[in-house]
Amino acid sequence: MSTARAVINLDLPGPTISRHVYGHFAEHLGRCIYGGFWVGEDSDIPNQGGIRLDVVEALRALRIPNLRWPGGCFADDYHWRDGIGPREQRPRMVNSHWGDVVEDNAFGTHEFLALCELLDAEPYVNGNVGSGTVREMGEWVEYLTRADDSPMASLRREHGRDEPWRVPFFGIGNEPWGCGGNMRGEAYADLARQYSTYVRDHGGNHVYRIAAGAHDDDVTWTRALMEALTPFGTPLARPGVFQGISLHYYTTAGPWTDKGSATVFDDDDYWRTMAASRRIESILAAHISVMDAYDPQRLVGLVLDEWGTWWDVEPGTNPGFLYQQNTLRDALVASVHFDVFHAVAERLVMANIAQTVNVLQAMILTDPDSGALVLTPTYHVFAMNAGHQDAARLDAHLLAPDHVRRVAEEEVPTVSVSASSKDGGVLISASNLDLTEPVELTLDLRGGRLAEATGLVLTADRVETYNDADRADAVTPRPLDVITDGDVLRITLPPHAFVTVRGTLV
Ligand code: AHR
Repeated sequence: MSTARAVINLDLPGPTISRHVYGHFAEHLGRCIYGGFWVGEDSDIPNQGGIRLDVVEALRALRIPNLRWPGGCFADDYHWRDGIGPREQRPRMVNSHWGDVVEDNAFGTHEFLALCELLDAEPYVNGNVGSGTVREMGEWVEYLTRADDSPMASLRREHGRDEPWRVPFFGIGNEPWGCGGNMRGEAYADLARQYSTYVRDHGGNHVYRIAAGAHDDDVTWTRALMEALTPFGTPLARPGVFQGISLHYYTTAGPWTDKGSATVFDDDDYWRTMAASRRIESILAAHISVMDAYDPQRLVGLVLDEWGTWWDVEPGTNPGFLYQQNTLRDALVASVHFDVFHAVAERLVMANIAQTVNVLQAMILTDPDSGALVLTPTYHVFAMNAGHQDAARLDAHLLAPDHVRRVAEEEVPTVSVSASSKDGGVLISASNLDLTEPVELTLDLRGGRLAEATGLVLTADRVETYNDADRADAVTPRPLDVITDGDVLRITLPPHAFVTVRGTLV
């Protein structure tokens, strides 16, 4: 068995890991909203006002901090007034991006905010720039958040909701370089300034406005947005007209035209996936360095509001519905991302996995016929890591020089660690990406001691293992031995495994 050591200073708390990096994304896409969250009031599936309660219960265990909606690409086709009022009278539309299906707008503003209340998650509403108007966006914010008898607040009351909602996050369009309008960076940057101006703070509701950002390593787009915030060439000295800039990055095993199967893959596919996953580190670093140049005080937040694996759809399913299975490989993609997110906590204020139910790297898959629900391996990573939310990052120095795998031109670390502390508790997360070799990991804790330490491990015999109706717990957390040896803890990371160790500071 190979060995590795992680030195963790328990008495040097770093920046807070925003709970919002454990955020989620639910789009009107395939069976995410319809069938996933929403079954309608007449369904046999237990629901509250049409929202399925088994999904809510499972997600409440993750303490999901925020939910982004209604898209994605759908957001720039969505007109919010179509989704209010009596459902049978709501206009229909074509969901041209996702399956070319007819959307009946049964799930609209009130249903989304009711869902957020059930989940105890903060709403992140994504507005329409591509085909909407400034007025439409401004009125939506007024409808959502204004308390008095303004025109939009009155309209909301006519539709049964007296109190305004709190909407802390608002997106200014989505992927404007592509599905959101095919714009150039400078053109969109001006629109982001304009639209953000009309996303008002009503009463005590303070909105964090998120300009739609780049994908992958397109730092030119990020630069255009930072230029728009600092038009006079001097570094940003106070919060600008928008406060956050988004970024999208998806992990695949191959080129965009050949993403690969979710469940059938060989070792090379696996390692290409791990290399692509680890690339999030250099991608975030590139955007952060551009932001640092314009905004050394870190007034603008980076928001990775779409991330996760994107595979070929499951055979026999609608290609526009992006339904994919989820194996232990997906779980490791998530655990590696979280270690990187923790490392850049100073600038990364939010991240949203795509997407919560039945689409891309989902937490939950539901059967379209029986309605039965399965928790994916990725779900368990979110659950095991939940203790990092709003905790202080602890720097974890990994001494594992031999644990590197060369994948084409890239060197992929095969062991990954991060740690945090909160309220006297410490949470350490570690992943072993190697497919065959276990690793004995020594946790060299300095500046303090843990009274007790317990461990969990998420693994399976094969990295292709997934959960389904017949084997719902094929990949599920199990207890892990944690050996206390003087001032250090020792754990064994099995091959292709994610583990957490939790303890209390004495
Ligand atoms: O998450 C699926 C799609 O991926 C989103 O709608 C879009 O923003 C991105 O291209």
